[in-house]
Amino acid sequence: MIKADTPTPKIDLGRSVYLETFGCQMNELDSELVRGHLSALGYTFTTDQLAADVVLFNTCSVRQQAENKVLSRLGIIAVNKREGAEVVVGVIGCMAEREGADMIKRYPQIDLMCGPGELDKLPMLIDNAMKTQAVELADRVALQGNRTRRTATLAAAEDNLQLLDLSRAFDPEGGQLGRSAYVRITRGCNKYCTYCVVPYTRGAEVHRPPTDIVDECKRLADSGVIEITLLGQTVNHYVYTHGVAVSLDGRELDQVGPGAAAFKANSNGSSKGVIKGNRTTSFADLLRRIHDEVPKVLRLRFVTSYARDFGEDILHAMADCERICEYLHAPLQSGSDRVLKLMNRGYTSGEYLDFVERARAIMPDVSLAGDIIVGFSGETDEDFQLTKDLLKRVRFKNNFIFKYSPRPGTTAIDRFADDVPEVVKRQRNNELLALQAEISAEVHREFVGKEVAVFVEKISPHELKQSNGIDPQVQLGWESSRIQLSGRTGGDLITVFDAKDEKAANEMIGRIVRVKVTASGPLILHGKAVIAAKAAI
Ligand code: 5AD
Repeated sequence: MIKADTPTPKIDLGRSVYLETFGCQMNELDSELVRGHLSALGYTFTTDQLAADVVLFNTCSVRQQAENKVLSRLGIIAVNKREGAEVVVGVIGCMAEREGADMIKRYPQIDLMCGPGELDKLPMLIDNAMKTQAVELADRVALQGNRTRRTATLAAAEDNLQLLDLSRAFDPEGGQLGRSAYVRITRGCNKYCTYCVVPYTRGAEVHRPPTDIVDECKRLADSGVIEITLLGQTVNHYVYTHGVAVSLDGRELDQVGPGAAAFKANSNGSSKGVIKGNRTTSFADLLRRIHDEVPKVLRLRFVTSYARDFGEDILHAMADCERICEYLHAPLQSGSDRVLKLMNRGYTSGEYLDFVERARAIMPDVSLAGDIIVGFSGETDEDFQLTKDLLKRVRFKNNFIFKYSPRPGTTAIDRFADDVPEVVKRQRNNELLALQAEISAEVHREFVGKEVAVFVEKISPHELKQSNGIDPQVQLGWESSRIQLSGRTGGDLITVFDAKDEKAANEMIGRIVRVKVTASGPLILHGKAVIAAKAAI
């Protein structure tokens, strides 16, 4: 019963949420899970920020630019609030974790903060922030701080971190989820690249139990998902150590993770079973398990890989299993050994090339992509030249190229001067983009005349024109009623092709369609569907 003196919540049930996501795929997944979690509690979602009762920014800290975007959104909200807008504002994700609770004091328009490892607590934080009476700062902020850095608490961290993934909503009608989904297999990172903020915002590396991962994949597949991308900061570093817990009658109980979190004492204090030796599930084992146990998943991918940790077992699993995409996103970052060392990447350019050679020996058609940072501390013209040389040798299908952005809390900002002038960074960035465009165009050209399997994502009226400046109608002789679709090959090459009409286009979205490649540009392949939508998978 509600007592007479209980203050009424500021905003009633049926509250609407505006959620904006910045940054990486890990954030996209976190946002999807947050959306599912809050929807199950009765929240609705709106794309109109001004109409929302709750505004959440799921933030990224990898570069200053990503944080600047959030700060500018916060600036606008501060004005709205001053003008009387009643809205609860939450900063969630990496920027919250990096800034710490102090951020609320500096930006009073923020009502709550939640780090990426604490997102299961978000509903409670929103509730607290909505209360009309004063709520302690501690009840509006959930951050990990330094907790996961201490091994003694890894087990607890593992349990907490799993909660959000385990709470994922599955729609048996296949409605909301779509046909492509992310599944997290590891959180955090232990690499400590000197430029990178991730170990400080997402904490130490924690691996999810394989059975939970396979189960999540199965449930997604049963909901209609046909493409799964496994996510981790260094996804191929995945390894799960099981101690097998058995009950006294010999039945297998929980699997035990690195922190032995699942092996819990029962209520009278004694343990449920005994630890009977250790087994491990490697990343290659995990890939094979998902491939074999979830055949409805027609495409299995994973990002982001760390070149140094690539055992041949993983490459063989990729080559052997037909539904695992032969695609690797393995950031190089720099082609100069001196810079790689300063970055603490743990490999030399020669070792990176060895990895590429091994991958291509086992999978001749493997598609390689990566990330490069230009203008890292002390990067000379010679260092930059080495990066260009390596790009030409590897022939990546594409690279994301970033200008170095010093991040608070990292080793690089403390130890090395950010001494490459902005104009030089910009110049190197442009030069590398141009070089990569040439290489990408060559890689794409090799597909002309071949047939590729395209996972169709969306209707795409403008992409073709943007890619090469030639009017698509003129280029491909399309009839004006035709609709352009866009999707990706197994090797992640963006492919556009035309559908007869809108109905045919809509039937193909979310399916895998065979496409004959007729032309190519630096960004995309153009082609024609070779089988009717109905016959496609
Ligand atoms: N400055 C610029 N780029 C960065 N990245 C990570 N940290 C920084 C930084 N401080 C890039 C790396 C990484 C990608 C996700 O972002 O290339 O692979």
